[in-house]
Amino acid sequence: MHPGSVLVLALLAGAQAADTVQYGAFLKTATYSVANALGFFTKNNLEVVYNQVPNSTAAFDSILDGQYDILTATVDNALNYRFNQAQPITVLGQLDQGPGLVLAAVQSITSAKQLKGKPIIVDSPVSGYAYLLRKILSSHGLELGADYYFMTVGGTAARYSALLTGQLPNGTAVYATILNYPFTEQAAALNTGKAPSILGAVADVVAPITSSAFTIRQQSLADPVTHDRLVRFTQSMYAANEYLLEPRNKECAVSAIAAQLNITSAIAQSAYTDAINSLTGEVSPDGSFGVSTQGIRNVKDVRAQYGGFAGAPAGLDFDAALRPGPGQLIDYGIRDEAVLRQTLSPLKSTCEPSTVNMQARSGDLGA
Ligand SMILES: *[C@@H]1O[C@H](CO)[C@@H](O)[C@H](O)[C@H]1NC(C)=O
Ligand SMILES: *[C@@H]1O[C@H](CO)[C@@H](O)[C@H](O)[C@H]1NC(C)=O
Ligand SMILES: *[C@@H]1O[C@H](CO)[C@@H](O)[C@H](O)[C@H]1NC(C)=O
Repeated sequence: MHPGSVLVLALLAGAQAADTVQYGAFLKTATYSVANALGFFTKNNLEVVYNQVPNSTAAFDSILDGQYDILTATVDNALNYRFNQAQPITVLGQLDQGPGLVLAAVQSITSAKQLKGKPIIVDSPVSGYAYLLRKILSSHGLELGADYYFMTVGGTAARYSALLTGQLPNGTAVYATILNYPFTEQAAALNTGKAPSILGAVADVVAPITSSAFTIRQQSLADPVTHDRLVRFTQSMYAANEYLLEPRNKECAVSAIAAQLNITSAIAQSAYTDAINSLTGEVSPDGSFGVSTQGIRNVKDVRAQYGGFAGAPAGLDFDAALRPGPGQLIDYGIRDEAVLRQTLSPLKSTCEPSTVNMQARSGDLGA
């Protein structure tokens, strides 16, 4: 860019350098893709650094030690860290309800029964999706230990690539794992000769669930600089989420997803469809990242069913512990400020669908 245009842009932006937010995530959600591609961060004077997390252990280490300012991870992890390990983890809100969560296997496995005696690859055997996997496999009569075992491999990106090649980098054979957005949609688009077998969906055994949640270390609430950046980050994501869920923005949202994930527009269309699904998508009951009461209770119940609260204080009152409030696991303070900011001075996207185009194309879409 010409130095002159940099100067003009700097003047337009009020000559302020953007504030950095270190963001840790397992995947680029549709809301993030829209926020990043369509200017919702930059218009809020933020430079959001996307850190691809390798696994949940590393992710939570990074949020607790201050390397990340905010993390999106399955809320089950937050329950584990806060209740079993008494770690100062705070959830600002719910991002999604587990879009595309399925039990997927290599081609040669066509029924869950064939997984008897096999390893199932996971991110962590004690958090994240492990309990949901156990729930699906139980529904097929398979129990951990007696019928199958877990092998710890890492986040979905690593597991998806292992599933497609049928083995781990060290040559160990791979049979099945849990997949989610956008890997489920990518898997479905593969040629029949290559596509994994889908053996069941999480939504068939438990729904709704709260899946990805905005997660921070509790100390950030009281740190004015981080607090302010988290409010602006949450506002940008909130504006992007509203934009994503508005049907007239479909074309711009699909393009943003395709560009951010480097996937074809056909796969981005199905990713978009899953992202806006009201039962499993990037949707919250109040439309502003509020945690589904039933969704988080289901996550807690599935973990409790398999003895996953062994480290929690005896007699912990979960209804009280899961109630949102200042200093609680779920603390809406930052979310509330973000929503207020968006009401007072709305962030707008850089992609406004053209009415002419929309009308011209609605015929194609209906065909
Ligand atoms: C998680 O990722 C970190 C950083 O890449 C790595 O050192 C660690 O071994 C991984 N842990 C597991 C359980 O895979
Ligand atoms: C291959 O890697 C997996 C996952 O880290 C591990 O459980 C397994 O023992 C390894 N196998 C060999 C032969 O090294
Ligand atoms: C995007 O995907 C294409 C096709 O899979 C690949 O060739 C290309 O290297 C990818 N680009 C980036 C930036 O990852």
